[in-house]
Amino acid sequence: MADEVLSQFQQAAAEKEIDATKKLKVGIIGTGWIAESHIQQYNVMPDVEVVAMADLIPGKAEAFKEKWGVKGDVHFYPDHKSMIDNEELDAVSVCTYNATHAECTIYALEHGINVLLEKPMCVTLDEAAEIVKAEKKSGKILSIGFQPRYDANMQMIKKIVESGTLGEIYYIQTGGGRRRGIPNSTFIEKRTAGIGALGDIGCYSLDMVLNAIGYPTPKTISAYKSNFFGTSTEYQSEYDAKRFDVDDFAAAFIRLEPGKYGDKDGIILDFRIAWAMHVDTPGDTIIFGKKAALRIPSTDCWNGSVGGPMKIYHDIAGARVETVVPIIQNKGQGLFYKKVRSFLDAIKTGGTSPVPSSQIIKNQAILDGIVRSAEAGKEVDIVMPEV
Ligand SMILES: NC(=O)c1ccc[n+]([C@@H]2O[C@H](COP(=O)([O-])OP(=O)(O)OC[C@H]3O[C@@H](n4cnc5c(N)ncnc54)[C@H](O)[C@@H]3O)[C@@H](O)[C@H]2O)c1
Repeated sequence: MADEVLSQFQQAAAEKEIDATKKLKVGIIGTGWIAESHIQQYNVMPDVEVVAMADLIPGKAEAFKEKWGVKGDVHFYPDHKSMIDNEELDAVSVCTYNATHAECTIYALEHGINVLLEKPMCVTLDEAAEIVKAEKKSGKILSIGFQPRYDANMQMIKKIVESGTLGEIYYIQTGGGRRRGIPNSTFIEKRTAGIGALGDIGCYSLDMVLNAIGYPTPKTISAYKSNFFGTSTEYQSEYDAKRFDVDDFAAAFIRLEPGKYGDKDGIILDFRIAWAMHVDTPGDTIIFGKKAALRIPSTDCWNGSVGGPMKIYHDIAGARVETVVPIIQNKGQGLFYKKVRSFLDAIKTGGTSPVPSSQIIKNQAILDGIVRSAEAGKEVDIVMPEV
């Protein structure tokens, strides 16, 4: 019986040949930590020429080129504007910290450049709306960097929901956490990151379930956030505790519209995320359906991946049955490669964005709503902007 249930979701993995006759000229904005995962992909793609790099920190882009052995003539710039003003680019990777995602992305789109934007989309819903407006005006591809979507296990969650195995969904608990996992970087300051654990790992938990259920629109949120660990010198150096002014924990009760897979009264999303806490995990992700429930194990140090074999809990002929969904080994290239490749392929084929803003703006609306509700100390409405 387990095999029968699972056989519905079998994966077909196919890797396409790259047409290298049309080369794409690419620029990288922000040559920090995540840019390393972008350059490693571009370096092995025969149809990409990385021709420009920009970073606010003098010498950083030059050192980055050197470190990653980028071939060819690369021009360096002190910020995104000077790069975009002076180069003819097909695409940019926006790898800056969250606080400058919107300005870099909008400027690139306004100049007719396709954008692969790192997650989270930005900091606020207002910024997200401006990004989408610029995208629509430009007609260019904007894809947001959620590489966990290319994990076959994540795709399996979506396939299970779409198969109808769970029936109508009425409640989801999701989130993730780390016992101690505060990144000591630009992530911990509002000035650069805007938001903390919410933007770093919270957006992944949200995308995992929202993508599976077809991104229904969020309606209301009641939320809480804190930063007891990040601001404490018991856990952080005095210097970092002083710098720390974002969230390291958040919890929220979110009402979603029914969408395609929900009960007529909608879906409740019960969410929590932690960079640090006194427990190993705030719990697995569980999707409650009227016909079955799906448990997705969390990981110790939450990073947006499936932590072990998933289980479907259902009834068969009056018996309570559990079907184990074994972990699927990803085939072919890595997740970061697929994230970059799918973006480039969409440009080359005139296709649609692989991780579209029409979905991720709802992810951003939830992050924004969590901050607003937590600061107001009460439930708030989520009003999706007209874009
Ligand atoms: N997809 C993933 O798995 C993943 C992992 C880590 C980080 N990220 C995301 O990547 C982004 C960057 O994170 P990071 O760890 O690389 O940060 P980082 O601080 O190491 O690097 C960001 C760089 O951007 C530069 N920068 C900022 N504004 C700029 C501008 N206007 N023009 C040119 N350069 C500018 C900064 O000087 C800095 O060097 C964040 O949004 C983060 O959420 C994604």
